[in-house]
Amino acid sequence: MQPSVASSVIFVLLILSILHVNSISSLSSCRSQCGATAIKYPFGIDDGCGAPHYRKMLNCSGDLFFQTPSGNYKVKSIDYDKETMVIYDPSMSTCTMLQPHHDFILSEIQSVVTPPTSDSIFVLLNCSIDSPILNHYSSLCFNFSGHSCDELYSACPSFRIFHLGYNATTAGYPPCCFTGYNTVKYMSMNILDCSHYTTVYNTDGLKGIGPLDWAYGIKMSYSVPNSGCERCQRSGGTCGYDTETEMMLCICSSFNNSTRDCGK
Ligand SMILES: *[C@@H]1O[C@H](CO)[C@@H](O)[C@H](O)[C@H]1NC(C)=O
Ligand SMILES: *[C@@H]1O[C@H](CO)[C@@H](O)[C@H](O)[C@H]1NC(C)=O
Ligand SMILES: *[C@@H]1O[C@H](CO)[C@@H](O)[C@H](O)[C@H]1NC(C)=O
Ligand SMILES: *[C@@H]1O[C@H](CO)[C@@H](O)[C@H](O)[C@H]1NC(C)=O
Ligand SMILES: *[C@@H]1O[C@H](CO)[C@@H](O)[C@H](O)[C@H]1NC(C)=O
Ligand SMILES: *[C@@H]1O[C@H](CO)[C@@H](O)[C@H](O)[C@H]1NC(C)=O
Repeated sequence: MQPSVASSVIFVLLILSILHVNSISSLSSCRSQCGATAIKYPFGIDDGCGAPHYRKMLNCSGDLFFQTPSGNYKVKSIDYDKETMVIYDPSMSTCTMLQPHHDFILSEIQSVVTPPTSDSIFVLLNCSIDSPILNHYSSLCFNFSGHSCDELYSACPSFRIFHLGYNATTAGYPPCCFTGYNTVKYMSMNILDCSHYTTVYNTDGLKGIGPLDWAYGIKMSYSVPNSGCERCQRSGGTCGYDTETEMMLCICSSFNNSTRDCGK
């Protein structure tokens, strides 16, 4: 064999082995980052990664999205110490932007494993006088940190339109309501009979702060299953699950998954 032939054979073999290694490592890779957001247990963006309860909840397509039956919401942040996640609906109305309403719906499993926190408040706006929250269910409405929902009609440029267009003998503002997630969980926007809603989080700290400066979005607390993931992580593995049985797997390498840990 001539030296140049030998070296090109070696070169080809080298390329092949690199391709081989790459294709194998991509089999077992669980991405640990999406954009600027770290992806850690119990979340996963690749099937088989993270905890099975969180399967298909996150979607990484450039940005990180939280997928629900009512649409994909942008994930603003995940706090792994406090075990909370803040999501944001780009098509939701805020104090500065009016958009057509749509419902906020979590799947059954999501409302159990990632329920909105009690300091995430749903603001129902431009409700009809026949709305259940003005009648049978008026006890579901409350004020918080010294704020009443009427304030949004005057303080928010986007909500002034409700005031202007409103013709009622009673007051200048159509009815509104601050309420919790359970209200919108059990009654859709159509039943509530309110044309718009917005959501605010971290409401405990909003005393004396006007609606223009509130944080709009939904904060949810998530639960971490007690499934022995720490043992797997300590042994250098990544926690995942078998995509068929959804039994926990400790992903060690593409050659060797184990049920508990990666040995030494
Ligand atoms: C290990 O688990 C990962 C993730 O479920 C899977 O992609 C891979 O094929 C598994 N490897 C083996 C050898 O079972
Ligand atoms: C992920 O979310 C984006 C944004 O909503 C959407 O366009 C895309 O189709 C989703 N991808 C999958 C696989 O569901
Ligand atoms: C407010 O609600 C009424 C129905 O109660 C609706 O006709 C009206 O269009 C809504 N206002 C806006 C600006 O959407
Ligand atoms: C909220 O505050 C407003 C204005 O102070 C008051 O009129 C209203 O009755 C309060 N609502 C509730 C549910 O306490
Ligand atoms: C409000 O509605 C009533 C009944 O439809 C009507 O008679 C009245 O002129 C309206 N007022 C204004 C200011 O549009
Ligand atoms: C796979 O991992 C286990 C430890 O969990 C170890 O006992 C076994 O030898 C490993 N197998 C291979 C082929 O590396």
